Amino acid sequence: MPKLKSVYICSECGYESAKWCGKCPGCGEWNSMNEEIKETVKIAPAAARNTTVFSSPQLIREIDADDEKRCSTGSKELDRVLGGGLVKGSVVLLGGDPGIGKSTILMQVCSHLSDEGKNVLYVSGEESKRQIKLRSSRLGVNGENIYLYTQTDCQTICEIIKEQMPEMVVIDSIQTISIAELNSSPGSVTQVRESTNMLMRTAKTTEIPIIIVGHVNKDGAIAGPKVLEHIVDTVLYFEGDKQMTYRILRAVKNRYGSTNEIGVLEMCDKGLFDVENPSLMLLSGRPKNVSGTCVACAMEGSRPILAEVQGLVCSGGYGNSRRMSTGFDYNRMSLLLAVLEKRAGYSFSNSDAYINVVGGLRLDEPAVDLAVAMSLVSSLKDFPIDEQTIAFGELGLAGEIRSVSHCDLRISEAQRLGFKRCIVPYYSLKHINKSNYPDIEIIGVKNVREAVLALSR
Ligand code: TYD
Ligand code: MG
Repeated sequence: MPKLKSVYICSECGYESAKWCGKCPGCGEWNSMNEEIKETVKIAPAAARNTTVFSSPQLIREIDADDEKRCSTGSKELDRVLGGGLVKGSVVLLGGDPGIGKSTILMQVCSHLSDEGKNVLYVSGEESKRQIKLRSSRLGVNGENIYLYTQTDCQTICEIIKEQMPEMVVIDSIQTISIAELNSSPGSVTQVRESTNMLMRTAKTTEIPIIIVGHVNKDGAIAGPKVLEHIVDTVLYFEGDKQMTYRILRAVKNRYGSTNEIGVLEMCDKGLFDVENPSLMLLSGRPKNVSGTCVACAMEGSRPILAEVQGLVCSGGYGNSRRMSTGFDYNRMSLLLAVLEKRAGYSFSNSDAYINVVGGLRLDEPAVDLAVAMSLVSSLKDFPIDEQTIAFGELGLAGEIRSVSHCDLRISEAQRLGFKRCIVPYYSLKHINKSNYPDIEIIGVKNVREAVLALSR
């Protein structure tokens, strides 16, 4: 290992200093000195040129694709979000609120790999070995090949990885890992960034996949510098209401797959389980014959997901009406209320309005607009929408319903779950082959008024 030395470098002009100073002596900028690591051992340029780092240019078709190098994590949902499994030598950052289940899912992944006879290394800087052991026995992990290691020194961890050569490494969490040579405390921007860099280099040279747990700060972003997300190959977020049992796994960045896919899991008393049929789960326990609920269909990656949107409109206080939305964009909701008021003549100005997407899911797709608008109108006018009807479509500012993508997938999902009627944008009808859906009535609507008419039938 080369010896490490920490230096302070000005982010504006690159001035280097051994000590921190408030004002850069080079360019005079205030508060621009950042601590960085400097490796003191330099490779001679001639030797460097011989290494593979400076390999000659190669034709892209002559390079092996390494698809077969993916390994399954044991959870279909996690595999889907990763783009088909864990890639060798990749570094995955898993972020999420405390207590959401990050350590749980990773222990389950370790358990799966261990059952396949692969050695895994679980490095924890947060919990004691006993705590982890307790969790693993609760999860029913037999742990034949799982090595636990409580260590916070990054260099030691990297050396152990190179020595043991496990098939996968888990680091729980990056905020507790530090490099002794740096003066800043664990969890600080410099420590987190440099530790990740060091782990990244280890992963690339040994071809071992490393999963790093990252804490999130109050805004929900991964604590530490934004560069952390630039360094790693894949960034996953684990979301969900802690009170609810559902958890959503979302890829924010993925160098080996699409970022549109989500994974749905459920937290049970024996750990996290895949939810293979999220629509069924989200729609269970729906109230019957009640106004203010409408079923929407949103595409999450390549998967259509049906979810119930609930709207509640009631008379508000004097002059200051409340609006609140859970699982749907607040500003988008205000916009829909404005469109309904101006283009369809429904007045919400003296009423409070609330929107809730049941199940803790967040729906950000424009195709959900129609269901949100309809649940609000249904609550305002107090007419129930038929429970076997779904609606999707984007609402324009002129009150028109605009066409959306993947209509076929959405309708087949509705048919599969036994829905009888589908309210779709009129201009999408030409892309739909009605004969494919014998059990479902498809109604095209051009604007909000038509949609309300179709739904209140
Ligand atoms: P954990 O994985 O420790 O969260 P994180 O590492 O993201 O902080 O999960 C802890 C929560 O999960 C805790 O509130 C208890 C709950 N849990 C279950 O409901 N069932 C289980 O089998 C396990 C292990 C945890
Ligand atoms: Mg944890």
